[in-house]
Amino acid sequence: MAPAATALYPPPAHAALIVRSLPTVTAEERKKILEDVEYNVFAFPAALLTCDFLSDSGTSALVDLSMAALMRGDESYGRNWGYYCILEAFRDVFERGSRREYAMDRILTGKADAEFYLSKLLTPHQDGFVNGGRHQLERPNFFILPQGRCAETLLFSTLSAMIGKSTTIVSNGFFDTTGANALVAGFRLQVFTQPGLTDPFPNELVGKKNPFKGNLDLVATEAFLDANPSEVSMILLSVTNNWAASQPVSMANVRGAAALAQRRAIPLFLDACRFAENAYFIQQYEDGYGNKTIEEIVQEMFSFADGFTISLKKDGLANMGGVLSFRDQGMFAQKYEGIGMAMKERQIISYGNDSYGGMSGRDLMAASAGLYQVTNQEYLHRRITQIQSFGQKLQANGISILSPPGGAIFLDMDHFFFGCNRKHEDFAAVGFTLELIKDFGIRAAEAGPFGWAADLKSPEERTTIPNLVRFAVPRLVYSDEHIDYTVAAIKEMYDRRHTIPNAEITRGKHMKLRHFSAGLKPVAIDQAVTGTYLAEATRQLGYLSTALGQDATGEKHLIDALALVIGDWGQNLVPKQLEPPTWTSGVSNDGSPIEYSVSIDQVTGEAELRFLTEAQPDENTWKSLRDAALCVNESIAANYPNSVSLRNFEMIRDIFMPAHLSSELAENIKMAAWYSCAYSSKKGPQWKIYLDPCVAGDALLATCEAFRLLGLEKGWKLIESILETADRIVYFSLDLSSNVEEARVKVYVAHGGGDATSKIVAAKVAQKHASICPDADAFEIQRFFAAMAGSDFGMPDSPRGKKSLISCFAFSSKAGLERPVGTVHFPVDGYVQDDAEVKRRVEAYLVAAGSSSKVRERYTKTISAVQRRRLSDGPGIHAWVSLKQRAGGKRDNTFYLCPEMLGVGSPQK
Ligand code: F0G
Repeated sequence: MAPAATALYPPPAHAALIVRSLPTVTAEERKKILEDVEYNVFAFPAALLTCDFLSDSGTSALVDLSMAALMRGDESYGRNWGYYCILEAFRDVFERGSRREYAMDRILTGKADAEFYLSKLLTPHQDGFVNGGRHQLERPNFFILPQGRCAETLLFSTLSAMIGKSTTIVSNGFFDTTGANALVAGFRLQVFTQPGLTDPFPNELVGKKNPFKGNLDLVATEAFLDANPSEVSMILLSVTNNWAASQPVSMANVRGAAALAQRRAIPLFLDACRFAENAYFIQQYEDGYGNKTIEEIVQEMFSFADGFTISLKKDGLANMGGVLSFRDQGMFAQKYEGIGMAMKERQIISYGNDSYGGMSGRDLMAASAGLYQVTNQEYLHRRITQIQSFGQKLQANGISILSPPGGAIFLDMDHFFFGCNRKHEDFAAVGFTLELIKDFGIRAAEAGPFGWAADLKSPEERTTIPNLVRFAVPRLVYSDEHIDYTVAAIKEMYDRRHTIPNAEITRGKHMKLRHFSAGLKPVAIDQAVTGTYLAEATRQLGYLSTALGQDATGEKHLIDALALVIGDWGQNLVPKQLEPPTWTSGVSNDGSPIEYSVSIDQVTGEAELRFLTEAQPDENTWKSLRDAALCVNESIAANYPNSVSLRNFEMIRDIFMPAHLSSELAENIKMAAWYSCAYSSKKGPQWKIYLDPCVAGDALLATCEAFRLLGLEKGWKLIESILETADRIVYFSLDLSSNVEEARVKVYVAHGGGDATSKIVAAKVAQKHASICPDADAFEIQRFFAAMAGSDFGMPDSPRGKKSLISCFAFSSKAGLERPVGTVHFPVDGYVQDDAEVKRRVEAYLVAAGSSSKVRERYTKTISAVQRRRLSDGPGIHAWVSLKQRAGGKRDNTFYLCPEMLGVGSPQK
């Protein structure tokens, strides 16, 4: 019968009866200490930390049963009783499956008499991993050692000496000391991890499915064995695979590796440090194992192995200990005859006699008890679900992890620093770990370009190194309180990721396993833009393009198009601030001559990226502005002969490009022409020109005339029917497309009544759209306005003052001249305290609109692509958010984004 549980929570599985107080340390104190320890996180004193996720190795809390066993440690030099306990514990856990014999209980309760020794502990076991009695003396195959890496040293050094030449070990992933030990012993290493380690994984499937990303790539391994016959002396499977972000290995993979090894007569060893966690993953996620017990699964996993090494500091639930073992009279033993005896000699010389191998009798007792605890179903369930919920809390805060999490949390630092201009050789992830210690007393370890020494590797090897930071959760030590504190700290760091320093190696760059001992120093980040307008825009467009999943062709097209319009101006260095008499472009909020916009389909996530820019005049005069614009027109037409036509523009040119302006009008000119370009692989480049009807004196008359010249009288009648006295025509725009059918004519109306958060204005605008746009749904428009205005309309005024709602009505021959497509624009920067507030509103709106997680991820990544400061520092990145309703109920949102090249809160339109 299942234990009692509430609907929401299972009953707790543990209670803490011994606790330790954590220190109070200030950020200033930790800053000083970091300096003293050369910014090496391994060297930071643990006593001054609040949460320590450096390693799950040896850091477990002992359960009371292990503590009790520890108290009954026997420190005799020869054959202390801990020796028998650990032998029996290994037989129970790794060989007997559900038929455990628990001989340790007799020893613990003081009831192991001579008869018990004779009948049980001294019986001559053979053919398994733990020979007993005289077999253990004649053919030793089980070696106690101080920890995992000693087991590796013993294995690799003895094997290498026996083989007598350099051979290769193939693995799904070597832990750093494991790889180093094999190399030192003279082996070559070959890693074949199943491809796709960093592939995204659907959030909703975490806890339901698992792709076993830790698997050995059997196909690649086989190909390597074919190409290099008799080269490989061992296949080593790490379960779980610590190199591959602690991801589990499936039973099918262990079985497959064993079959392959068997066919080629190569021994298969397990690096079994986290065998129990791996067994839990198999039970939960692999077909056919749901009804098996952990005991049975462990037994099956090990039935495939010729031998294994294990660090008892992980899934031994102990603070110290390691073991090396191989199958008595198995393939390994036969192939390397006498290797057990050779190992025993080395064990005795380096670590201690075979009764204890460098472990104290107490530690042997604790580790034996630990092996039983660690394979407990309830324990494993809590352990893995704690890690999963840690990951889910991070993801809920927008922080990307390698997913699904395995036995530890790995932050995806490429995602973390997306848009922040950090190269792998900047070691920004190390900078992150240093800040995390300084400000929050939380220690984690970089597992990326610094730890894996990417700078010393070949370009090809470099591509296989992921950029991660590991949070290894100590077993049974932390509660949700610690996890929540850590998640909150990481979120704060994420919000200010743009200012997190990089790191530089000051000492020990070429040392082996340099992360343990190198000296570093943080390198502060300068936030100001130092390059040219074009260079900065190229950078931001590159990130935007990646955010939207565009290919390099699209990105290049847009950058070329931008360079064409922006001309020489683009080559100017971005100034610290704009000085008159420089022409201040009104294209973007801060005077930057560029604005980006990203439109995303609410359902499919299909996205389009565009920019808006302006030709720079030589002087601040209408003539100069006009000449510059006409010149750009010509060069666009010349450079895009197939897709661009100026035909429509020429028809209305005289209205919007008068040769002279009255001095009164010339005073207030804001533009002659703006240009936007979008690129899609389907349609190619799509150019648009924006014109200012005010230059004609009466904007209304001018627009009416333009519509007439373009043969759109009926369309204009529709617009007229909704215009009220306070409404103004603010822009007139044309697609410069050679496709006559599709080329749109657009008019932009700013709605009177000032306040965009007014419920009355919003309702009126919605109603106006519904009355002339066949695809407009008034309710949907109001819902959008309400969301952008803040939940209950009428948020407090921001320092930027009020801006009007704008509608855009687009006409094309294809859609029919009486069927405008309407878009509503909300001037969101005028009604918020900061961009963080806009983001919250947009996210809430997208959720309410039923958009998919892909849509929300694209939006978030889009903001990261242009952002170079905290969103909470102020408003300005989001300028407008719009909603377009198309035929068939399709809806797009477009985000108009300021590049903030000139800083936050710079001059606005
Ligand atoms: N193999 C694996 C897969 C490991 O994760 C470790 C240690 C070892 C071998 C070596 O064992 O520390 O007892 O000598 N991993 C720790 C970690 C140190 O933090 O992941 P050891």
